[in-house]
Order: sequence, then C-alpha cells, then structure tokens
Amino acid sequence: MSWHATALTLFPEMFPGSLGQSLAGRALREGLWRLDARQIRDFALDKHRTVDDTPCGGGAGMVLRPDVVDAACAAALADGEDRALVYLTPRGKLLDQALVRELVAGPGVILVCGRYEGLDQRVIEARGMREVSIGDYVLSGGEPAALVLLDACVRLLPGVMGGVDSAAEESFSAGAGGAPLLEYPQYTRPVEWQGRAVPEVLLSGHHAAVARWRREMAERATRERRPDLWSRRDDMRDGVAAKASAG
Ligand code: ADE
Repeated sequence: MSWHATALTLFPEMFPGSLGQSLAGRALREGLWRLDARQIRDFALDKHRTVDDTPCGGGAGMVLRPDVVDAACAAALADGEDRALVYLTPRGKLLDQALVRELVAGPGVILVCGRYEGLDQRVIEARGMREVSIGDYVLSGGEPAALVLLDACVRLLPGVMGGVDSAAEESFSAGAGGAPLLEYPQYTRPVEWQGRAVPEVLLSGHHAAVARWRREMAERATRERRPDLWSRRDDMRDGVAAKASAG
C-alpha cells in the first residue's frame, strides 16, 4: 500500500495542483503515493447541500458545520487505514520537518481544508484532529497549506528523490540529536558572472576546506537570519554540557 493522502475540501479541483508536476507528479503517476480530493459538499445533509452556518455568538463570516465535516471524515477513514487527521488552520501548531517526518512514517494523512471563518470546534475535538499551520499569515483557505504539507511529505517518501543525499544535508535536517542549520549558499558555472566570482575555496578541490567553509556559512546564515534556531543549538549544547558535568 502506498502512502495515501485525502484532501477534504470545497475546492477539489485545486488538487493535485502543483503536486501533479515535477518530482511529486512523477511519483504520483508511478504509484509511490496516492492522492484523492473529496468534495465536503457531497456530505451535506439537506437538499440545498449546506455546509456552513453563521458563527454562534455573532461575528463575520461562516463556520463549517460539524455534522457535515464529520461525515466527510468518516468516509475518508472508512478505507481502514489508520491515517492522521490534520486540520489546516492558522491556529494550529507550526509545521516543521519533525512533524513532516512523523507524518511520512505513517500510512498517510487526511487533510481537512477550511474556508470561511473555520471549522466548528466540536468536530476538531471529537475526531482528535491535529491542527497545523504552515506559517504566521492567513491564507484564504487550507488548500494551499495542504499542498505545502504534502509536498514536504512526498519528497521524503522512498524512491521519490532518487537516491539524492540532499534530503539529509539541507536546511532543517539536523544530524543525530542536533538542532537544524540553514543551508550554505550554492554556486555553479560560470565561475565569474557580472564581476562576481565563485568563492575560491569551492574551486580548490580541497574537500575538508570546502566542508569547513560550508559549515561556517550555514552557521552564519542561521545566526543572522534565524536567531530562534540558533538559540536552540545553544540550548542543546548547554544541555549536553550540563549532562556531562552531572555525570
Ligand atoms: N488556513 C489559512 N491560513 C492558514 C495557514 N497559515 N496555515 C494553515 N492553514 C491555513
């Protein structure tokens, strides 16, 4: 059984979208993973196919009904696989590489894509949905966030990246027990372009020097651009030092 993703959405035509192209698209055609998009409206309970209603307590916008979304979840879960149920929302826990790895290790995901003002809290709780955000900004719906999450997952599936080492070396893939570093900058030919030269060390053929330079560049970028990630490294080092002095 290949890794299985189901999107529950009011806009199924947004899938596979970008995931029909490139690495993910080829893997989809080769059956390395599977994607279906189901129309939430098909689970509406009335003849008008109503999926939403006004927020209790007042306020702008509409809220997706718990009964309709619950029926859509039940249908997706009926295939028998024990898949994670994820609700994409700016209120969620931030998506990171650790969560991506965890989701890829399982049989697949069911992604609930909200629109309007969101989803009735009761169905989130009743179904034990994991609420996930892709960043601190508000999209007009969960679909682009679902595509982002799936892209991050699919490229880690066996066979998708074709034996490339880059998944292990790139930004956010920390080595054993380490906190992640941003990636070092890359260069290719021509060695001089518009008066800008490729850093000499990269042309030296000196592997240890290249590795050292890349490490320094990765650390500098992380320190300057992502002090939050950098301080996690400090915290980890402190943890190791504390353990060493305790033992
Ligand atoms: N839906 C709207 N904004 C979102 C975000 N930032 N992450 C996930 N889902 C969303």
